[in-house]
Order: sequence, then C-alpha cells, then structure tokens
Amino acid sequence: MCGIVGYTGHQPAQKIVIESLKKLEYRGYDSSGIATKEDKLVICKKEGPIANMESILPKSSSNLAIAHTRWATHGVPSDTNAHPHTDGDNSVAVVHNGTIDNYLAIRENLEKEGYNFKSESDSEVLPILISKYYAGDLVEALNKTLADIQGIFTIAVIHENHPDEIVAVRHETPLIIGVGNSENFIASDIYAVLKYTQQIVYPEDNQIVRVTPESIELFDFDLKSIDYEVETVEKYTEVAEKGGYEHFMLKEIFEQPKALQDSLTELLVDSPLERLGLNWKIGSISIVACGTSYHAGLVGKYVIEQLTAIPVSVGYSSEFRYAAPVQGVGGLLSSRPLVVLISQSGETADTLAAARSAKQQGCHTIAICNVPGSRITREVDGVIITKSGQEVGVAATKTFLTQMQALYALGVHLAFNSGSLDHPQLKLWESEIRKIPSKITQVLNNSEAIKALVPHFVKAKSAFFIGRNINYPLAMEGALKLKEISYIHAEGYPAGELKHGPLALLSKETPVLAIAMQDHTYSKLVSNIEEVSARSAPVITLCQKGDQQIPKISDSYFELPEIDPVLSPFTVAVFLQLLSYYVAHELGTEIDKPRNLAKSVTVE
Ligand code: AGP
Repeated sequence: MCGIVGYTGHQPAQKIVIESLKKLEYRGYDSSGIATKEDKLVICKKEGPIANMESILPKSSSNLAIAHTRWATHGVPSDTNAHPHTDGDNSVAVVHNGTIDNYLAIRENLEKEGYNFKSESDSEVLPILISKYYAGDLVEALNKTLADIQGIFTIAVIHENHPDEIVAVRHETPLIIGVGNSENFIASDIYAVLKYTQQIVYPEDNQIVRVTPESIELFDFDLKSIDYEVETVEKYTEVAEKGGYEHFMLKEIFEQPKALQDSLTELLVDSPLERLGLNWKIGSISIVACGTSYHAGLVGKYVIEQLTAIPVSVGYSSEFRYAAPVQGVGGLLSSRPLVVLISQSGETADTLAAARSAKQQGCHTIAICNVPGSRITREVDGVIITKSGQEVGVAATKTFLTQMQALYALGVHLAFNSGSLDHPQLKLWESEIRKIPSKITQVLNNSEAIKALVPHFVKAKSAFFIGRNINYPLAMEGALKLKEISYIHAEGYPAGELKHGPLALLSKETPVLAIAMQDHTYSKLVSNIEEVSARSAPVITLCQKGDQQIPKISDSYFELPEIDPVLSPFTVAVFLQLLSYYVAHELGTEIDKPRNLAKSVTVE
C-alpha cells in the first residue's frame, strides 16, 4: 500500500522524510517521490526503489516536505504516475493513499474547464481541485475538494504560500501525527516517526488536520475545530537491519519463539474474557479476516468448536458484506453474536469494512491485531494485541503464529467459562501452550533438513498442499506462502477433496506436500497419500517423530518434534514457512517485498 510522510519544523526536511519513508518500504511500493518548499515547490519523483529517487534529489534547505511511496492502483508504475502530483504551476503538491472512485468524471469536467493532466493517476485531480478552490486558506480549499470526490483516501498537501504548513485528511485509510518539539510529522503509520517521537495523535476518520512546527489543529468536515489527545506509544524496538539474516522474513521466522513468549503473558495471566467484554453466553462466533489471517481463523474454528459447544463460522472479509446478517443462536439478547476480526496490520480495508458492518448489525466485535493504535483497534469493542513486534516481510509469519496462539487462548478461556473445561484442565492447556515456543525451536534447529526438500519444488509449475481437520488450514497457508514469495502456483486442499477433481492435475511434475499427524485423521490421510502416489506425483510428507509408515509411502518426509496433534499447527507452520523461504531463495525472488503485493492492503 502507499506510504505517506510529512515534516514541518526546524530540521532539514528532505533528509527526515526520506528516512521516514524508508520505514514504510515494508508496505510494498513501485515508485516514490518528495515535494519540498524552496522558493517554489520542488518535486522529485522516480519509478522503482527510493534509492532511484534519492539519486536525482536536488539540494534542499527546506524545513517543509511531504513524500510518498506508491503502490499502483490507477496507471502503471512510472515517473509521471508517481506522487507527489501538482497543479499546473506547481503551487500545490499532493500525496495520496487510496482511490478516487469518481476521478474520471472529475477529470473530464476539469479538462473541459481547460485544466491539463500529465499522468494516468486518479490522484492528479486532487492538486488541480485544491488549486481551483484555493482562496488563501489551504484547509478550506481541501475541504471544498472533499465535497467533489468519492473513494477512500489519506491526502497530504502543501502550498507555496504556506511555507511551514501541511494539511491532511483521512477517510478510511490510516493517518497519524507525530508530535515533536517545534516540529511535527504526519505519516501513514507510527513506524515512520517512532525514531523521532513517541507522542502520537490519531485523527479519526473524516477529520482534516493542519500542522505547523508549533501547532496541530483538527477539524471536522464542517470545519469545526476538534479536540484531540496526544498518546504515548511504546517505542517499538527499532527493527535492526535484519539482525544478520539475509531477509527480514527469515529473521521473523526465527523470532517466533520470542514472539509467542511475549504474546503469551497478556493472554494467560488473567482471563482475557473480562477485558474483552465477553461476559455473556455467546451463541455463535464469526471469524473474519484475509489471507494468512483468514487461515489463522480457520485453525481457531477447529480449536474453539472442539473446546466449546459454540458454532464458529469463518469468512473472508471481502465477502462478509454479501453474507446473510450474523445471527445469534437460540434466544436474542442472551446469544449476542461475537465477531472476531483478525488483522496483523489493523489497516486492511476489507477487514475494517467487515468490522463496521458487524457493529452496524449489533454484534460484539473483538480484534486480534499486531499494531497497537491501528485503525481496527480503535473501532472494535475489545482487542487482543499480539506482541510479535514489527513484521517487515510482506509474507506473514510470526504474526500468524501469535494470531493462532491468541485463538487457542480464547478458546480455552471460553471453554473454562462455559464449564466445558474444569480448572485443572485449563491449567493443563495453559502449560501445553507454554511449551510451543520450545517445540518450534526444534523445527528451526532442523532447517537444513527442510532445505534438502527444495529440489522437489523449485522446478515445479504447480504444487498441492493437503491436510485434514486442523491441518487443512495449514495446507492452505503453506500454499499461500509458496505462491506469494516464490511465484510458483500452489493450492491448499482438504486431503479428502483431491479425488473430487484436482487429482486430474497430478503428474510427476506436481509435487504434493501432505501433512500427516497421528490423530483420528491419520488412516484417511495415508489413503490420500497412496492415491497421489498412484498418479506418480511426488509426495513429500510432514509426519510425527518415529512414524514408521509414512517413510515407506512417501518420496521424502520430514519428522516434526513430538507434539499433541491439536497443537501441531504451530510446528507445521514453521516448517511450511521455511520450505517456501528456501524455495524462493533458490529462485532468487524478492522475498521480503514480493512483486505486486503489499504488507498492508488499505484498498478494497
Ligand atoms: C500473508 O502472507 C499476506 N501478506 C496476506 O495474505 C495478509 O495475510 C493479508 O493481506 C491480511 O493482512 P492483515 O493480517 O494485515 O489484515
């Protein structure tokens, strides 16, 4: 997703916003640009990495700047389509995150009025409208512009007549203000400014902000002034530059024991239910998320349904709005539905939209999120913050495991609360969950054996991942990891489903990764492996330590450390993450920033 930063103060603005912009690279982008206030506004923008733009930066003595990383929505990645965009005489410069849905009609009208456009970007209508409405007050000009546009947006604008002022607005996409001493910052998220300040203002949706070095003002769309609070956020430990690992993804895979440990305390020390406001008989649970977070939700379904009698549905955020309204089960008030939204970034537009829809339906909403203060944490009724630390790699890894851990802990407490677990059983579950970090460490210590499996996949055009029951979602997650960082097509399937169609695709070129835990699904999984082998497709099986049968029916296999099958998703996940990492590494793809993808998808 696009990244926005701005600075106004007493320091050299160009250097500060470039450094801040680099903290947003993890969001994924294809071009970047900066506007500074010299005598006139000076714009410098370039396709490709920020280094490309840096290589053509003019000298600057400005103390005012805005900058942008673009993730193309309208118009190909190019120098011209990069932000900032300006009006005809460079009196106004604008950076934008989101989409202007009615930009074509606006552009046609403006062209009829004689305005010229240089780019294919929807965002270019913004500086031209602002310039058209400008009559001395930049807030008023932006506010008039907002009346013309539809879409979701964070916009920041500077004007040559206002040498120390940044005006910005947010509507369904993120914006924060970093508060300094005689200097202020604006950005898409807190990571961009934490190096300079931990004092943060979080504008609400549909608020316009004006910052100067000495002032911060917030307005509603009627231009009524709005009070605001300054919050002190935890200083995220600076993400050390990969800490000796070749990629952030590998670093974050190996950080998982610590991420689980750090996240556990908040979950098990005191019952999270009180804190989450879950003090009634829950009739049903709907889990809503995207991508890897959706897969965590699927695992949560199996765990919560196994532990409690509560029916759990899991859906994609982007489909939630088309589904039937969420129903309580049994009576009315006593079974108020619970909707759990899972989002590591807390800024995913689809999941934010689902959260708003659930609240409109009167559901109780809680979020499982990795970024304190992110949008979703401010819109739901209760929050479980996972403590993975910043996850830079676009492919979710440690946040996935801490999301699952949060769901296990939620299930255990819901079961205890409803009486289906007694206190000794609760304590037993808690002690088993506490052992997970050491279990995944054993997988991490055996990474060389995982590397040895790479040749099965590296030349494949397509691969299948199969599992049953609680490891069916892991099959889907393994497929997602492989495709998003190695670009090899992969599908995750319930093992029992292959014979209903996909079996037709199997050949000796389609490796199948089977997840075979010694639980009640084992014998069926063995039959599925034999069905696959009978079609001469190579089978690589993930099995439990000491399994005597799997080595005889698989082309290759990997033994996981002893673990209760119901907790196996944690060790299976680490194996799948490392497998996809090593395959992508062999292929030389951009592992931390895969093509076309973004870390935080803030468009629908
Ligand atoms: C996972 O590796 C991908 N990066 C992607 O599917 C991601 O899980 C999805 O976009 C949801 O992101 P969120 O958890 O921040 O909402």
